[in-house]
Amino acid sequence: MSDTPLLRASEVVAGYVPEVNILNGCSVDLYDSELVGIIGPNGAGKSTMLKAIFGLIPVRSGEVTLRGSDSDTPTVDITDMKAHRLVKQGVGFVPQTENVFSTLTVKENMEMGAFLEPDMVEERFERVCELFPRLGERAGQTAGSLSGGERQMVAMGRALMMDPRVLLLDEPSAGLSPAFQDEVFVNCRRINSAGVSILMVEQNARRCLQVADRAYVLDQGVDAYTGSGKELLEDPKVIELYLGTLARGLVD
Ligand SMILES: Nc1ncnc2c1ncn2[C@@H]1O[C@H](COP(=O)(O)OP(=O)(O)OP(=O)(O)O)[C@@H](O)[C@H]1O
Ligand SMILES: [Mg+2]
Repeated sequence: MSDTPLLRASEVVAGYVPEVNILNGCSVDLYDSELVGIIGPNGAGKSTMLKAIFGLIPVRSGEVTLRGSDSDTPTVDITDMKAHRLVKQGVGFVPQTENVFSTLTVKENMEMGAFLEPDMVEERFERVCELFPRLGERAGQTAGSLSGGERQMVAMGRALMMDPRVLLLDEPSAGLSPAFQDEVFVNCRRINSAGVSILMVEQNARRCLQVADRAYVLDQGVDAYTGSGKELLEDPKVIELYLGTLARGLVD
C-alpha cells in the first residue's frame, strides 16, 4: 500500500470544441485497491473526464499521473498518453457505448483484448471465465446475440484480458434491467477484490455510492463533492442536489 495515488488526475481542463472547456479543473485520485465512483448530472463531464484520463481527448491544462508498477519505478506522467501505451502501462477502459465487437464471438472479443500479448490469451481467458463463467459458456456465440448484461460482461472481460492495474468503467450498468444492474455492481466488486483498482462512472448514483470506497460528485466540469460512499449518501447537500428521489429510497 502506498500513500501516493495509483492514478491521479489533477486540475484537468479539457473539452471538444476550441475554447470551450467541459472540464474546468477537475481532480480525481484513485488509490491502491480502491473502487472509486464518479456520479453527477447528465452532461456534467463524467465521460469526458474518463476520456481525458485515457488520452482520447487532449488535456488543455492539469496533469494525469500513474504510479509505476513497482517501488523502483517512479510515478509516470501519462497526460495525453495514447490509449495503446496506457494499456501497456496497465490501464484499461470500458467506454459507455459500443464497447464490444458484435459480429465477433465472445472468445474473439477476448483475443482482441489481449492482442498486444497473444501468448497470454488462453491463460487470461481462463481467469476471466472464473470471474464470469457465462463468458466461458458463451465463448463461441457472437457478442451481438448476447443479452445486454452479458455484453457488458464481454466488455469488462475484454478489458481484463490485459491484466490491468486500473480499470476505468463508464456507466457499466446503463440500460440494464435492475437484476442485471445489480449483477454488474457485484461483478465490479469481484474484479476489485481480485486486485484491480476501479474508477467507475455511474448513473445509478445510489447503488454506486453503496459499493464505492470513495466517490466524487462532478458538476459542471469540477469535482464538487468528495468523500466515502457512505458520507456522500448521507450528506444532505448531495442528497438534495444529486440524489433526488433516488435518495428517498434510502430511508425505507
Ligand atoms: N464529442 C463531443 N463533441 C462536442 N461536445 C461533446 C462531445 N461529447 C460530449 N460533449 C459535451 O460535453 C459535455 C459533457 O459531456 P459528457 O459526455 O462528459 O457528460 P456525462 O457527465 O458523461 O453525461 P451523461 O450522464 O449523460 O453520460 C456535454 O455538454 C456534451 O454535450
Ligand atoms: Mg457519460
